[in-house]
Amino acid sequence: MGFYSERVVPRLVTCACGTKPVIRQRQKVVPLARGTVLEFGIGAGHNLPHYDASHVDKVIGIDPCSKSWELAEARANQAKVKVEFIEGSAENIPLASASVDSVLITFTLCTVPNPQAALAEARRMLKPDGKLFFCEHGIAPDERVAKWQRRINPLWKRVFGGCHITRDTRALLQEAGFGIDAIEQMYLPGTPAVAGFNTWGEAAIA
Ligand SMILES: C[S@@+](CC[C@H](N)C(=O)[O-])C[C@H]1O[C@@H](n2cnc3c(N)ncnc32)[C@H](O)[C@@H]1O
Repeated sequence: MGFYSERVVPRLVTCACGTKPVIRQRQKVVPLARGTVLEFGIGAGHNLPHYDASHVDKVIGIDPCSKSWELAEARANQAKVKVEFIEGSAENIPLASASVDSVLITFTLCTVPNPQAALAEARRMLKPDGKLFFCEHGIAPDERVAKWQRRINPLWKRVFGGCHITRDTRALLQEAGFGIDAIEQMYLPGTPAVAGFNTWGEAAIA
């Protein structure tokens, strides 16, 4: 890993993940998580203050970027929930099947190299009555925006550590065999449209 991807990208992404509109999105989904929670791409731990400690036993965060964990440590120490960290990929999780009540994925399906493999792991990890909570940015419904997203995606990926702005969250979840129980979508205010079309909600194994 070079200086840019090791030092600059985690800080760049951390800044983008801490804006007010993004925090408001976290407040919509994170408090819904229950029991043992597996958080994909925990990053700098921006979700940790938003868990409802009265319903969460512990949060297991998986992320391949050890630098993220350094950035997350302060939030983990202040969190009202117990936090464990696994350095690894959501595409290949070293935990037993059907062992978590909730999977939380925020602004991470955009970045994992193989989102279908990660969602297959989410299915494997969830107990039969478990829930997947998600909030992602992705391809916009307006062709005018989507055209620009497709155009700048190759450059965007290079600048933002592998983040895609062209993925379709709803389609990915359905292709992975999730039934969608709740879904909402909107452009985040104060955010460039190419990066700001958000999809959030909850899903269960179909
Ligand atoms: C845009 S950041 C979002 C971080 C956090 N989920 C949030 O909402 O603030 C994307 C995160 O995905 C992580 N990531 C990249 N590839 C991954 C993979 N294969 N498995 C799990 N996480 C991954 C990155 O290291 C980074 O922390």
